[in-house]
Amino acid sequence: KRPAGAPDAKLARPVTKVGVVGAGLMAGQLALLFAKQLKVPVVMTDIDQERVDRGVAYIHGEVDKLQAKGRMAEAAANRTKSLISGSVDKAAFVDADFVIEAVFEELSVKKQVFAEVEAIVSPECILATNTSSLSVTEMARDLKHPERLVGFHFFNPVAVMPLLEIVKAPKTSDETLATAFALAKNLKKTAVLVKDAAAFVVNRILLRLMGEVTDAFDEGTPADVADNALRPMGLPMTPFTLGAMVGLPVAQHVQESLHAAFGDRFRVSANLQALIDNGIKGLWAPTADGGQEIPAGTQALLS
Ligand code: 3HC
Repeated sequence: KRPAGAPDAKLARPVTKVGVVGAGLMAGQLALLFAKQLKVPVVMTDIDQERVDRGVAYIHGEVDKLQAKGRMAEAAANRTKSLISGSVDKAAFVDADFVIEAVFEELSVKKQVFAEVEAIVSPECILATNTSSLSVTEMARDLKHPERLVGFHFFNPVAVMPLLEIVKAPKTSDETLATAFALAKNLKKTAVLVKDAAAFVVNRILLRLMGEVTDAFDEGTPADVADNALRPMGLPMTPFTLGAMVGLPVAQHVQESLHAAFGDRFRVSANLQALIDNGIKGLWAPTADGGQEIPAGTQALLS
């Protein structure tokens, strides 16, 4: 059955090589997924060789883990590793049919990335952004071929989360959308078409939860109580455990985008900012007996 809003699948273009801009955690997860599921070459780029090498090493480590767990046969593991390469030069994208960016969440950075990529790739190459909350329409504005840009938003951990938000900007063409839906199917993800609005749909809902928790402790409820209050609701992770997994600065960035778009419906938390300013990566730390606690230093930052 055709997903709601998906154009005719016949319009999809073949994808025989993928480019990933960025070699951080999200980019590495994406590169692994593309190589493993599509079995096509995937090249990852970043601003220096050290980052590129770290990204490739991360992927090799994840493949080794899958193999050790018996989730990937040796031949598939070797093939997946051999399909992945890294470069500091975006010229490596010259023959790519699909390039996705997973770089720093700053509109000007993303626009610069797409301008550089567009100077290298063919006019048919599809461009995608994995942004959490920025405007795809804005990113497309200065492109020579804005019709080829689509939002392709994955969730952490990419290997296990089944959902993919596909974001259509006003100029996104049917060919681009059809290719995005075909890719989602081949990646074995469930794709939904969402409007290009701040934080799309899922992060809007998640940040509603996160925002209520940060509001509660901004208002004086102890942080452990506020975060744990949702545990009996059957969520797989409390908001702050999830926040630590995706990165508190990423969560806060989404909070800021939503605040900019919707005002006080989404507030920016002073306590969350204090944790980030102090380099604290999460609320919880493991205890010796296998439990978890909020360390005194973290607790002290929460007014
Ligand atoms: N990478 C790869 N595989 C992972 C993984 C990771 N980081 N974390 C867990 N897994 C795998 C495990 O290896 C295990 O696989 P196996 O059955 O082959 O051994 C499987 O997932 C289940 O893991 P566990 O049994 O260890 O733990 P759980 O049952 O608690 O499941 C979870 C882990 C799937 C991550 C679950 O806790 C969950 O669904 N959490 C919520 C995740 C979520 O909401 N993500 C959205 C974040 S928002 C976002 O990303 C948007 C961005 O824009 C900010």
